[in-house]
Amino acid sequence: MARHLITSAIPYINGIKHLGNLVGSQLPADLYARYLRGRGHEVLFLCATDEHGTPAELAAAKAGKPVAEYCAEMWQVQDKLGQGFRLSFDHFGRSSSEQNRKLTQHFAGKLFEAGLIEEITEKQVYSNADGRFLPDRYIEGTCPNCGYDKARGDQCENCTKQLDPTDLIDPRSAISGSTDLEVRETKHLYLKQSQMRDRLNAWIDDQKDWPILTTSIAKKWLNDGDGLRDRGITRDLDWGIPVKRGDDDWPGMEGKVFYVWFDAPIEYIACGAEWVEAGKGEDWERWWRTDKGADDVRYTQFMGKDNVPFHTLSFPATILGSGEPWKLVDYIKSFNYLNYDGGQFSTSQGRGIFMDQALEILPADYWRWWLLSHAPESSDAEFTWENFQASVNKDLADVLGNFVSRVTKFCRSKFGETVPEAGSYGPDETALIDTLTTRIRAYEKHMEAIEVRKSATELRAIWVAGNEYLQTAAPWSTFKEDPDRAAAQIRLALNLIRLYAVISAPFIPDASAAMLQAMQTDDCHWPDDMAQALESLKPGHAFSVPEVLFAKITDDQREDWAARFAGTRA
Ligand code: MF3
Ligand code: ZN
Repeated sequence: MARHLITSAIPYINGIKHLGNLVGSQLPADLYARYLRGRGHEVLFLCATDEHGTPAELAAAKAGKPVAEYCAEMWQVQDKLGQGFRLSFDHFGRSSSEQNRKLTQHFAGKLFEAGLIEEITEKQVYSNADGRFLPDRYIEGTCPNCGYDKARGDQCENCTKQLDPTDLIDPRSAISGSTDLEVRETKHLYLKQSQMRDRLNAWIDDQKDWPILTTSIAKKWLNDGDGLRDRGITRDLDWGIPVKRGDDDWPGMEGKVFYVWFDAPIEYIACGAEWVEAGKGEDWERWWRTDKGADDVRYTQFMGKDNVPFHTLSFPATILGSGEPWKLVDYIKSFNYLNYDGGQFSTSQGRGIFMDQALEILPADYWRWWLLSHAPESSDAEFTWENFQASVNKDLADVLGNFVSRVTKFCRSKFGETVPEAGSYGPDETALIDTLTTRIRAYEKHMEAIEVRKSATELRAIWVAGNEYLQTAAPWSTFKEDPDRAAAQIRLALNLIRLYAVISAPFIPDASAAMLQAMQTDDCHWPDDMAQALESLKPGHAFSVPEVLFAKITDDQREDWAARFAGTRA
């Protein structure tokens, strides 16, 4: 069994995430983590909140709270929502942790020793109206690359290009809207990424199996000439990790902090240390240091496409540049965007469905199923209420839920609430076992390749195969002439419920738990051998008829929700 380290891009602390954020990193990462655990692998699945930088400061100011207090509160909120969606992190950390402060300062020290950091006196945008420098998101303007007019000082959301505030055309302050800006001198640290071009190029060239979306973005910025220019890793801000090299002060850098995109990915590592500190694990270096046992770890990262340049260029530059044996990522799974009903999900505009709202109206499994089965992999995807209703009603209620309900109720009425004993499996059952074997092997292949949509399609087909078997076998009619035959059919069908619970758990963990509970078993063995897996529940084994697993979404509900979520959130 292998060891798998999995991280999801760490969400900004500023507010509750929408479903587009969720499906772009945390949710597919959870799917993969659950699948690998289900197959018996050792998994460390880490996520955290991204608490520094301008997004946090701007949001705290808006909420009228000190930024540290705001972050502590929002961490609680995000943690609780993560649990609500059953995100099975081994630890949900905070980039403002002590562990991350130390490690970030450590990396800066190592990069300095390696001659990869330069002190530069540069010109930064200063706002006279606001009386301060305007780094990153404190400034907005038109993207010089694509012309998008709401580009931020750190990155254009539209074309993913990393920017500097002075690049923007027609810049304005994001705090006051003021255009009374001037350029002032200030000293900053620059990471000499350009010196690492060859190493990064070689490393990316080695990654033969990465998804096209990931490599195309990486290559684009790598070869753009501009994508790998030296980047400032410090800011004139109060909130953040104080600039130091290791434990030592950095002369001339007093009162400055590291740039959020410098410390945020380091939190992936620091989160391991937080995990140990929280008493949940023993040894985080065994996951993160190749000199301490992490050689056999496979490390997979999940993120939206706008995050790819930071994970293929900037963060690897930090790791490689440190000269220390830190674990580099093995596979980067990236996602396109999910749109909402003809437009974009938008945090700033409150457009779309947010995690808290989603859980207010339906349990996590409904959302997990729809989002994962429509994950924006090969292109952007779109959420519409019609599509959501159709998928839930068809896949979850009609196919899976109905199967469970019919089988358990029929058995209760004819044979009682125990697995019937009579009869034996014949050619129909053998044919079903063959079909299921082929399909489950395909499901495994897609899951291992993190092909999320294909995995969902295969899983649905496995549910459908059971339904078709039941429809053809028709134990309710067989029972009249040949009750023993009906008993065998139902025995198989009850065993299928357990099997469905096991293989569906990565997608719909709550329903899976309910199915296992109804089957009164904790046998979660993966069906490596299908015939054997369908004999797990022995004749005479007691079960119960579960509550309705999935309620259908009515047209009235759909219309209500569509209206409720049509505007923007207050
Ligand atoms: N907070 C960033 C976002 O939501 C992601 C940071 S990922 C990390 O886009 F690598 F920096 F950790
Ligand atoms: Zn742009």
